[in-house]
Amino acid sequence: MSEVADAWAREDLTDIDRKGLLRSLEPLASPQGPVIRIGGQSLINFSSNDYLGLAADPRVVRAFVVGLERWGVGAGASRLVVGDTDAHRRLEARLAAFEGTEAVLLLNGGYPGNLGLVPALVGRGDLVVSDALNHASLIDGCRLARAEVAIVAHADPDAFARALTGTGFRRKLVVTDAVFSMDGDQAPLAPLAEVCARHGAALLVDEAHATGVLGARGSGLCEATGVRPDVRMGTLGKALGGFGAYAAASRAVVELFVNRARSVVFSTTLPPALCEALVAAVDLLEHDAELRPRLWRNIHRFVGGLRRALRASAFLRERGVLVKAIRPPTVAEGTSRLRFALSAGHTEAQIDHALHALEEARAHGLVTA
Ligand SMILES: Cc1ncc(COP(=O)(O)O)c(C=O)c1O
Repeated sequence: MSEVADAWAREDLTDIDRKGLLRSLEPLASPQGPVIRIGGQSLINFSSNDYLGLAADPRVVRAFVVGLERWGVGAGASRLVVGDTDAHRRLEARLAAFEGTEAVLLLNGGYPGNLGLVPALVGRGDLVVSDALNHASLIDGCRLARAEVAIVAHADPDAFARALTGTGFRRKLVVTDAVFSMDGDQAPLAPLAEVCARHGAALLVDEAHATGVLGARGSGLCEATGVRPDVRMGTLGKALGGFGAYAAASRAVVELFVNRARSVVFSTTLPPALCEALVAAVDLLEHDAELRPRLWRNIHRFVGGLRRALRASAFLRERGVLVKAIRPPTVAEGTSRLRFALSAGHTEAQIDHALHALEEARAHGLVTA
């Protein structure tokens, strides 16, 4: 075996390690869920995108098994060759009804999806305006498009508007995450849609973390804000518990993607059995009246706990006492706390002052113990 790449790898890994950035894989010994097993330890899982617990839901698993018995494991080809099946069509029709859109095209994931969608819409001589905190898949999609890319200040409609005043472009496209994956904040979709309309620009919204979570029916931030962009990219591997993604758009735009999105044209499509499982997942998302309310009750409980610990911390600080709020994941959900660390150097007066401030915080209902 040639060792050229091996030498490159060792050199680069040493460099990554020296910067303290070396990452490694950690295999789970259990299905995805609120409690997982890693390295012989059971852990409460606050790191998954399986927001509705559908990844191992027995009803979705059952649909997958039935699908496997009917279709086998793999699709065998891309959609345009012989990978297209009734199961793909059923899932697309189900998602189009759920999204209230003319057409839907399945994608092999949000990442490959965005790599295909952006270059299918724009190319040389065009302009793409992209939020500075967009996901890597949109950043890479913009690079592949070979259009001029303007990266603008995060969630700032005025910055988008300024970038769109550029002239001499054939087409202009605005791309944004709906919910930003690292900060959890939301794009100002209504003002962005207005800016796009003013400048004749198309709008592509990546709903990866909003699909199944936001909106009255759970289709995402566009639904929640009443915005109808040109393209919505939703994911099937996060709240819907499976794998893959989809583009919701007009029939013509979807037909263009079928013809031009290279990650669709040149890649084996999703297994048909998975499409059957995902139809069951979308059915549950729409019809299980408990799923989304349970998620939102948990979010409110958690955020409420965080807020109280932070408010108590701020209250004490105003009274000259520094005690930091310790929040999940450092401690379990619902047990956020103030962590007092005593020192031999503290005077009795200082301790009494802290106790007094704490008594006041208790009187305000900010601490319970
Ligand atoms: C905003 C955004 N878009 C796209 C993706 C990629 O989606 P997928 O995991 O389906 O490839 C992610 C994944 O975290 C994301 O956060």
